[in-house]
Amino acid sequence: MNISNICQNMFKRRSMDDLIATTKRSELKKTLNVFDLIVIGIGAVVGTGIFTIIGTAIQGGAESTGAGPAIVISMVLAAIACVFSALCYSEIAAMIPVAGSAYTYTYATLGEFMAWMVGWILMLEYAIGNITVASAWTGYFIQFLKGFKAYLPDFIVNFPLWLRYDFRTVQAICDANNWDIHDKVPYLFNHIPVAINFPSVFIVTVLTILLVIGIKESTKVASIMVGVNLFMILSFICVGSFYVKPENWTPFFPTDPSGVIMGAFLIFFAYIGFDAISTAAEETKNPQRDLPVAILGTLVICTILYVCVALVLTGIVPVGNIDINAPIAHAMSYIGKDWFAGALSLGALCALTSVLLIYQLGTTRILFAISRDRFLPKSWRLIHKKFRTPHVMTWISGLIVIICGLFMDLNISLALANFGTFTSFVIICLIVLILRKIEPNRERPFKVPFCPWFPILGIIICGVLIVYSFKELKTSSIYFVWWLLVGVLIYALYGYHQKRLEERKRLGKNA
Ligand code: ALA
Repeated sequence: MNISNICQNMFKRRSMDDLIATTKRSELKKTLNVFDLIVIGIGAVVGTGIFTIIGTAIQGGAESTGAGPAIVISMVLAAIACVFSALCYSEIAAMIPVAGSAYTYTYATLGEFMAWMVGWILMLEYAIGNITVASAWTGYFIQFLKGFKAYLPDFIVNFPLWLRYDFRTVQAICDANNWDIHDKVPYLFNHIPVAINFPSVFIVTVLTILLVIGIKESTKVASIMVGVNLFMILSFICVGSFYVKPENWTPFFPTDPSGVIMGAFLIFFAYIGFDAISTAAEETKNPQRDLPVAILGTLVICTILYVCVALVLTGIVPVGNIDINAPIAHAMSYIGKDWFAGALSLGALCALTSVLLIYQLGTTRILFAISRDRFLPKSWRLIHKKFRTPHVMTWISGLIVIICGLFMDLNISLALANFGTFTSFVIICLIVLILRKIEPNRERPFKVPFCPWFPILGIIICGVLIVYSFKELKTSSIYFVWWLLVGVLIYALYGYHQKRLEERKRLGKNA
């Protein structure tokens, strides 16, 4: 095999007609309508960002300065960064309604190697992002149990540390409190410490089982949770608005204006997920009409909600007093409404559960598409005979989150998910520009207005946010570069060869 052959394979594109034909042969059930898609969208978008990360974005964190009340500007900035990419997603998803999202679109435009890399980057958004959400879930679960301490036995409310957190977190807690770790953690054979984040393992396992049973059933559960979560957010806005003190909004801008940009980078996590809608394209009844409506609708609904929540939160609690772990619930305690703070924890749990569910779904569908393109073993894409869902892949996705969650630092997983998503957004905008050139006559049920300016603006805004945050978030940016390098290595040592092997097998069969 010579270099020119290798290069040819690496840049080989999948034909659009072939991709669209694949969806027609697809064994996945086509059951979703526009309502289901918006449920998937809101379910994936409203979660950790608005319930937890908003606190750090306002106050600042270890490696970033805060935005203060100007978080509202950060939110609008993040929404603008999303809107151009959302329009681009809509154009492509309506044109190529295939499972796999940005991965599949890249395969049709930039070729095999870039598609693999985009698939690998999307794992940051979905699987690694889910680690952040799973951990926030445990935090709210513990808080929720505390709300019922009067009714529940103590061993449930205060269950042991080694069943709540990973070993490093338990160690940090013990160090901070001068506790002997041997009193808090059991050791296997006297040497191997046992500490697991049991609530997050539990919830990810339950959701994986649900996804194996079926996507329609899963969206039914998601729609109940989305309903509860929206109700809680709307109640927060309505009740809270009576307690807003406009003087809390001054000074509006932080002393260091870079806080507004870092705020936009962090709160961007609150917006990601609308692209998850496009991962369910193959299971949509009328993708050409429903996908753009669902993607843009989700983004508009969420932006309005977020700006209202941010105004009420910074209007009730002075910036210096905003809680970093549970800012929304804490705001209600701040005005003496403890019972409402407890109810909001329940809303947060529902929101985080639906994000986990949708992200698991997204991870599975992207891995499914990568495997169907013969980069991963055939056994991974088996469809369950009874439920007609990709059950092996669903279990693999669940295990990735459970296992990585045992080792990964959560602030880093948040930044990595953001870096990955911004990169995939830049690529999506680029793909729209390329497709307009190489496939000018293909039917486009939805077109990005003001092309090429809107996609170019999308590339510039996302690009500036990546470069800016790269300088600020040093640890995560180094991990991001490592992630990319590992992706290249796996492709070179495995993906490329697996693909050729399967191609040869197919040719042999056809001969
Ligand atoms: N947007 C999702 C959340 O905030 C990822 O949890």
